Amino acid sequence: MSETSRQVFISMDLAQPVDRISHVPVQDAWGDLSVDGTTAEGGHPVRSLNGHPGGREQPEVPRDPPPSACALQPIGMVVDVSGSGGLIALDLHRLEECSADEDPTVAMSGQVSSQIKLRVGTDRDGGWLLGSVRNQRRDGKVEAGALAQVDFLGEGEEDPETGRITRFRRGVTRYPVPGALAYPATSADLRQIYASDGRNNVTVGTVFPTRDIRAGLYVDPLLGKHFALLGSTGTGKSTAAALILHRICDMAPEGHIVMIDPHGEYMAAFRESGQLFDVSNLQMPYWLMNFEEHCEVFLTSTGADRQIDADILAKCLLMARQKNRLAEQVGRITQDSPIPYLLSDLCIILQNEMGKLDKGHTSVPYMRVKSKIEEIRADPRYQFMFSGMLVGDTMADFLGQLFRLPAHGKPISIIDVSGVPSEITATVVAVLSRLVFDYAIWSRQEATRPILLVCEEAHRYVPSERNANGSSVGRILSRIAKEGRKYGVSLGLITQRPSDLAEGVLSQCGTIIAMRLNNDRDQQFVRAAMPEGARGFLDAIPALRNRECIICGEGVTIPIRVAFDDLDAARRPASADPSFSQLWTRSGGEAESVARTVQRWRAQSRF
Ligand SMILES: Nc1ncnc2c1ncn2[C@@H]1O[C@H](COP(=O)(O)OP(=O)(O)OP(=O)(O)O)[C@@H](O)[C@H]1O
Ligand SMILES: [Mg+2]
Repeated sequence: MSETSRQVFISMDLAQPVDRISHVPVQDAWGDLSVDGTTAEGGHPVRSLNGHPGGREQPEVPRDPPPSACALQPIGMVVDVSGSGGLIALDLHRLEECSADEDPTVAMSGQVSSQIKLRVGTDRDGGWLLGSVRNQRRDGKVEAGALAQVDFLGEGEEDPETGRITRFRRGVTRYPVPGALAYPATSADLRQIYASDGRNNVTVGTVFPTRDIRAGLYVDPLLGKHFALLGSTGTGKSTAAALILHRICDMAPEGHIVMIDPHGEYMAAFRESGQLFDVSNLQMPYWLMNFEEHCEVFLTSTGADRQIDADILAKCLLMARQKNRLAEQVGRITQDSPIPYLLSDLCIILQNEMGKLDKGHTSVPYMRVKSKIEEIRADPRYQFMFSGMLVGDTMADFLGQLFRLPAHGKPISIIDVSGVPSEITATVVAVLSRLVFDYAIWSRQEATRPILLVCEEAHRYVPSERNANGSSVGRILSRIAKEGRKYGVSLGLITQRPSDLAEGVLSQCGTIIAMRLNNDRDQQFVRAAMPEGARGFLDAIPALRNRECIICGEGVTIPIRVAFDDLDAARRPASADPSFSQLWTRSGGEAESVARTVQRWRAQSRF
C-alpha cells in the first residue's frame, strides 16, 4: 500500500454505508438451538430436523448483540482483484483492535481462514462480497501493514431497510474494485449467510468461530452427489458419521441406508434405529455372488492356471444354476444370474466333467476348484454365507431386510463384517455393494427408492492404483461413484487415508467433510478434490481440533468450518479410546477371561 492510500485508509470516513449493518434480530433458519447453543434434549434439536417447525412452537429467535463500533470500521483495502480472489492490504493495528471484540467472528477478522466482507457496487446499490482469508504476509512498505490473499466465497445484497445481507448466494457476479474497503464479518452476518435457504437439511454442529450459529447440511445434494468423510485416526470420523446418519435417520425414518462396518463399531450406535447384521444373522446366500465374485472365493491359482480354472468354474457354475427350476421360468440365464444352486451339485458337476475323456485339460484344475469348494463348505467361519441352509430362494427377503424395504422405522442396516474371514471380506463387501447397485438398476420401473451405501475404511476397498489388487469391490465402488447418482444410489466414503483411495473417486464426491489430516500427501489429495473457493479453509485442515471439520461442496452453501455436536454416549459408535492409565490399575477375572477367549478362538466363533 502506498503512503497516500494508507492515509486515505486511516482517515477514511467510516460512517457510510456500513453503519446500516445495524443489529437486527435474525431468525436462524437452521433454527434448532437456543441462543447459547444448548439444546433441549441432550444435543438433539428441538425443532424437526428438516428445517420445518414440525407443529411445535418456534424457539426464541437468537439475538445478536448490536455490532461493536469496531466491527463497523474497515480493516483493510482491496489492492488487487482476480477471478476467484483478491489481495487485501490489512491494517494490523485494526486487527489488533478487533481481536479484543466480544463477537468471536469479529475477533478472528483478518486471521487465516477467517471471513471478511468487501464492499461492492455503489452506495445506492451496495452489496457485500464474502471472502475467506487464505494467507497473510508482512507488507514491508507500510508500517503495521500486511497483505492477505482472499478467496471469494459468495455475495449478498444489502437490505436497504435493515442493512442486513440478504439473498446470499455462492459465486461472484460483482467484483470489488481496487480501493474497495474490507470489513470484519460479524456473527450476525454469518447467521444470515449460513441460514438455511429452505431446502431440507440436518444440522450437525456449530459454525466456527461463532458460539451458536448452527451448521447444516442440505440432505438432497449431500446424498445425491456422494460424500466423503476424511480425517486422521482418532479425529472423530466414526462419531461424526454416526451423528450425520442419526440426524438423517431422525429426519427420514423410512429411508434406506446400508452401512458397511469393518470394525463392528456402529452396532452400539444404532441399536434403536438400525437393523443389525453380523456373521451370526447375515445369512447372505453364496449363490448371490456373480461369476467374478465366485472366482475370488473359489479360485486359488494364479497366472495361466487361473484362466483355466475360471473357464471350468464358469461352465460348471452355469450348469449348477440351470438345475434350479427357477432357471426354467427365467429362460436364458448366465453364470452371473442370481439363481440358487446347491454347492453339492456344483461339486458333482465338477467331478463328472473331470471324468469326461474330451475335457481338454488334466484333472488337476478340476480337483483344485473342487477341493477349495469343499474346504469352504466345511469351514465354520464361512457358515454365514455357505451354509447348506441358504439354498432356498430367499433373495427378495434378503434384499428387503438389507435395504430396509420397508424400513419399519429402522432406516439403516449396519453390516458388521468384522467376523468375516479376512480373505473374503473384500468379496462380501463387493457382493453387498453390487446388490445395492444392481437392485437400483433392475428397479428402475418401480417407484424410486434411493439407497445410501456408507463404507467405512473405504481405502481398503477402493484402493489407489499403487495398492490396487484388481478386486471386484474396487470396481463396483468406483462404478457406483461414477454412475450411482443416475440410479439413485448414493455413496458415503469414510477414510483416514484419502491418498490411498483410487484416483477419481474423491473427485466424484460432491461434498467433502474433512477433519484433521496430519499427513502431507493426504492433505494434497483433499486439496486437489476441493473446489477452488475452499482453499483458504483447506490450509486450516492440519490445525483443526478433534471433532472439527471443514465442509465444502454441494451439501453446504459455502465452505464452513464446523465443530460437531457432542453425540449422546448411547448413540456413539463403540470406538472409545481405552484408558490405559485406568485399566492398568485394575485387576480381577483375568484367568476366566483368557479361558473364554481361547474357547471362542478355537471355536472360531465370537459368541
Ligand atoms: N461428536 C462427538 N461427540 C462425542 N464424542 C466424540 C465425538 N467425536 C469424537 N468423539 C470421541 O473421540 C474418540 C475418537 O472418535 P472416533 O472413534 O469417532 O475417531 P475416528 O476418527 O473414527 O478414529 P479411527 O480412525 O481410529 O476409526 C471417541 O472416544 C469418541 O467417543
Ligand atoms: Mg473410526
